[in-house]
Amino acid sequence: MAGSVDETRGTLSAQLLKGQKALVTGANSGIGLATAVALGRAGADVVVNYVVGADEAEKVVAQIKEFGVRSYAHQADVSDEDQVVAMVARMVEEFGTIDIMVANAGLQRDAPVTEMTHAQWKKVIDVNLTGQFLCAREAAKEFVRRGVVKEVSRSAGKIICMSSVHQIVPWSGHVNYASSKGGVGMLMQTLAQELAPKGIRVNAVAPGAIRTPINKDAWSTPEAEADLLRLIPYRRVGDPDDIANAVVAVASDLLDYVVGATLYVDGGMTLFPGFATGG
Ligand code: BGC
Repeated sequence: MAGSVDETRGTLSAQLLKGQKALVTGANSGIGLATAVALGRAGADVVVNYVVGADEAEKVVAQIKEFGVRSYAHQADVSDEDQVVAMVARMVEEFGTIDIMVANAGLQRDAPVTEMTHAQWKKVIDVNLTGQFLCAREAAKEFVRRGVVKEVSRSAGKIICMSSVHQIVPWSGHVNYASSKGGVGMLMQTLAQELAPKGIRVNAVAPGAIRTPINKDAWSTPEAEADLLRLIPYRRVGDPDDIANAVVAVASDLLDYVVGATLYVDGGMTLFPGFATGG
């Protein structure tokens, strides 16, 4: 049924993004992978960006093409300006334009602050924060050049920043990561303010604990999972599709009036669960 959630798969099945062109960074694993597939299922043509793991990226492309849309994989390091510029230029050449930029690529390099190296700090900031800036900037240039095409979407383009609950939740032992996501929050809001008058919507989706390779240690044993669930009022570790569905919704005209918002998709992790029984 149009606009409904597919009961069997828990995924948005409507062609909400028919004819739109999307690029997802870090799309060959985890949240990026699920998001790229969901955008394809929703009718968008999708560029699958990756930095390492060409085989996985090609598998994602094959899965997306099954929906009858176009897709290709493109290797680029989002923290490298030239590579990001070239990636978006190729997309405009191959697909004609871009409508949706999902700045998703991200990583962790965890260490207590006294042991964290400058290289660990820099790597995380470069990929998670500078990478999102570069991707957003290149997409915004094309959105401004093209403007609104009302048969395609009410807006001139959508930028969706993949954030985290750690946009607002401090995280000991992860100062580089938490700082990068705090930065993503302000990057998103400032770009939203700057670009809204041009008809561009910038928003963030902020996942909690989602079952992906980035946090495997936190959910892959029953003990670890039980520990993790104490932090999630809804008592379920999230699935990549929980995030992918949120991205499709934010990217679609259903949420056209949502500008500069952070949508937390976290089973209540940001509700200060430690205060459920104390305080
Ligand atoms: C991190 C995960 C973590 C989750 C909740 C995410 O942004 O990448 O490692 O499990 O936040 O703390």
